[in-house]
Amino acid sequence: MSTSARPRSVHDLKAFKERGEKFAMLTAYDSTSAAILEEAGVPILLVGDSLGMVVLGYESTVPVTLDEMIHHTKAVRRGAPHTLVVVDMPFGSFQTDAPSAKANAVRLLKETGASAIKLEGGQRVTGLVRDLVDMGVPVMGHLGLTPQSVNQFGGFKVQGRTSEAADGIVADTQALAEAGAFAVVLECVPSDVGRRATAAVDVPTIGIGAGDDTDGQVLVLPDMLGMTTGRLPRFVKAYADGRSMIRDAVKAFQAEVAAGEYPGPEHRY
Ligand code: KIV
Repeated sequence: MSTSARPRSVHDLKAFKERGEKFAMLTAYDSTSAAILEEAGVPILLVGDSLGMVVLGYESTVPVTLDEMIHHTKAVRRGAPHTLVVVDMPFGSFQTDAPSAKANAVRLLKETGASAIKLEGGQRVTGLVRDLVDMGVPVMGHLGLTPQSVNQFGGFKVQGRTSEAADGIVADTQALAEAGAFAVVLECVPSDVGRRATAAVDVPTIGIGAGDDTDGQVLVLPDMLGMTTGRLPRFVKAYADGRSMIRDAVKAFQAEVAAGEYPGPEHRY
């Protein structure tokens, strides 16, 4: 956990990098979890469009809608009123044309109380990033394995493996920082690319499967709580066995109900 004061604005995050202090970001999708994360002192929460896969049961992040992001971000904001909250722009909400991208970003901030938006992409989105920042919308970038492009990548694959692709990710990180992004997420890239991109900019980079040299690290909450099943990416570390814990508690409840042990005298009116 960070030893520093809770960042109050996106600008405070830069101070982490200046002090060489690594920080954690976690995803959140509901009010109860967000309150626990705030209690634990997580400096920044991301309402990622991973929402679609880990909460809504979609196969990818592609189907997630703007209204779904707004609904869940409002819940997170209510649960964690003192923490920086960043909300993902879902697929289709910023790719079609600039006026609707800007209107959607405004909706996300106005209706949810989040402090910033995150969007996927490199040089092709820098014009939009510049415009949003000029309009007063703080932007976090996202490079490497950008899940909204899963259909183009042909699956969830490590990006930046060739020297040309690695150079492209470093150049995109610089372009986003120059356009005014206050931080950049680097997902599923070789550690060397994470290190080079981090050294190339003075805004913080936040890695997820990008090695140990990025300024921050982010994980998807249900993954790090051991709630998700199936083949998980190599970068996932489960810090708890949440799935067993919930299953055991649910079984204990069922057994006590069946045995007539619950509710006990202390639970009755
Ligand atoms: O949607 C998400 O949760 C994300 C993180 C994995 C960075 O974009």
